[in-house]
Amino acid sequence: MPSDTIRSIVRAYDDPVVRAYCWARFLVLRQRFLEEIGQYLPPAGPVLDIGCGFGLFSLYYAATGPARFLRGLDVSARRIALARRAAQRLGLDNVAYEQGDARDFKGDAEVSAAYMLDIVHHVPPATVPPLLGQLRRCLAPGGLLLVKDVDTRPAPKRWFTWTLDRLMAPRTPVHYWSTEELTAALERAGFGVRRHLMVDVLPYPHVLYICEARR
Ligand SMILES: C[S@@+](CC[C@H](N)C(=O)[O-])C[C@H]1O[C@@H](n2cnc3c(N)ncnc32)[C@H](O)[C@@H]1O
Repeated sequence: MPSDTIRSIVRAYDDPVVRAYCWARFLVLRQRFLEEIGQYLPPAGPVLDIGCGFGLFSLYYAATGPARFLRGLDVSARRIALARRAAQRLGLDNVAYEQGDARDFKGDAEVSAAYMLDIVHHVPPATVPPLLGQLRRCLAPGGLLLVKDVDTRPAPKRWFTWTLDRLMAPRTPVHYWSTEELTAALERAGFGVRRHLMVDVLPYPHVLYICEARR
């Protein structure tokens, strides 16, 4: 059963197609998973959401953590415009959105935490290590980067995810990383990595990487 917070976020978008997409995203990353991810977010301070899309999850973590300041970045100008409008409608002033390409992300200030939810597989693989390096530089030692993505195994689950990705964004190329490859890339970028098992009844090969910035 979606919470009142989730319902009010979905209601902040007018377009029925966008609303349907929002419900689909909140079905995939439902309350339980949002709490599993959110337990690693600090209760206060600036938090980056790289590839924030329509802003659903940054709005959720801003609404449930009023002392946080969420900063969402997405390459889609339309999604950013809708995220800004939704924030305004919800009366949330602890969230801000910026249009930009994660591949150009430089990070202008230190943040308390950062996360990327189902975005790494949409970024060209060669540009992921530099992005991870930039994120590491934004975090103080001990700060957390959370990466939720999908594993390459088991193969049937990967095909299920691939089919949905093709349906949702037919022109966006996808590259799934195995947990070993992505863990190694995160470690090379200067993170100590733990994996949190997200067990789902739906056939998603979810993986949540909890990455602590090393000294
Ligand atoms: C599957 S959606 C996930 C959106 C959001 N994180 C969520 O979980 O609902 C992937 C998002 O990544 C964005 N994206 C893809 N490539 C990007 C890039 N190079 N820089 C920034 N955003 C990008 C897309 O515009 C899209 O909003």
